[in-house]
Amino acid sequence: MNKEFEDYLLVRVQENDDSRTKDAMAYSLMNGGKRVRPMLLFSVLEGYGMDAHVGYPCACAIEMIHTYSLVHDDLPAMDNDDLRRGKPSCHKAYDEATAILAGDGLLTKAFEVVLDSECSAKQKVALVKALSWYAGIDGMIYGQTLDLQAENDTNPTFALLQEIDHYKTSKLLTLPLVCGCILANKFDDIDHFRKIGLVLGLEFQMQDDILDVVGSEEVVGKSLSDEDNHKVTAVSLLGLEGAKDMVKSYDETIRKSLDKVSCDVTSLTKVLDTLLKRTY
Ligand code: IPE
Ligand code: IPE
Ligand code: MG
Ligand code: MG
Ligand code: MG
Repeated sequence: MNKEFEDYLLVRVQENDDSRTKDAMAYSLMNGGKRVRPMLLFSVLEGYGMDAHVGYPCACAIEMIHTYSLVHDDLPAMDNDDLRRGKPSCHKAYDEATAILAGDGLLTKAFEVVLDSECSAKQKVALVKALSWYAGIDGMIYGQTLDLQAENDTNPTFALLQEIDHYKTSKLLTLPLVCGCILANKFDDIDHFRKIGLVLGLEFQMQDDILDVVGSEEVVGKSLSDEDNHKVTAVSLLGLEGAKDMVKSYDETIRKSLDKVSCDVTSLTKVLDTLLKRTY
């Protein structure tokens, strides 16, 4: 991701009064994530002929929400993982209480930052609504709820896995696509992008599940704990080869649906190419 956007993230996460929680927020946000969601937002804006800078506040807000979801996901009460983005997880580098507060801080700060977008009041309302909807209890949080419940499911189905991934991962990958439409005032494209984001999230989580099995902690940069945690995953249900085939088929579905949107998809296609080949 570009240095200018990284600098923007750093400024926004450091601009408040000094505190241990603020330090933990910056530690987790600046810890070298792939910035997939910001890349998706910028590629949609580019497709509509708009400058990526217009999307910086919104992309920052989405990355803050995504980072909060990871900080909480790693907590002992959830996945209990000690490594994230190649460094000790937030609760290991600080402590559990600080990690909980850092997550709360990142989530709350996101709404402040998104309101700094250079757009109309109507667009800001739509952005805030989208952020709260896709991240919230009918969005990512619902998926995390199902994910934890499924640890105790003795006979999980593929339909259950899709339901989990639809919420825990697709929602936050759809969000930047939808926000791109809002910032470009292309509200008619939102439905098409929602369908694309849903499949993209299923593909992305399936790759994540595969990397949890075939990857190494050094390369993936996080604890690989799905089996120990009795997670329902693409690999546990379909086997490694079955999961890899499914990733390819999701990718084909996405590419076929790109002709439905009214923007140029060259930049978005490049992001999809990168994601398909990812090793972490
Ligand atoms: C990890 O997301 C959580 C999932 C939804 C699979 P990313 O793979 O985008 O994590 P970072 O931001 O690069 O660390
Ligand atoms: C988490 O899925 C998705 C979130 C909403 C945070 P995982 O639990 O598989 O993500 P990783 O593997 O820890 O990044
Ligand atoms: Mg998890
Ligand atoms: Mg996890
Ligand atoms: Mg995972």
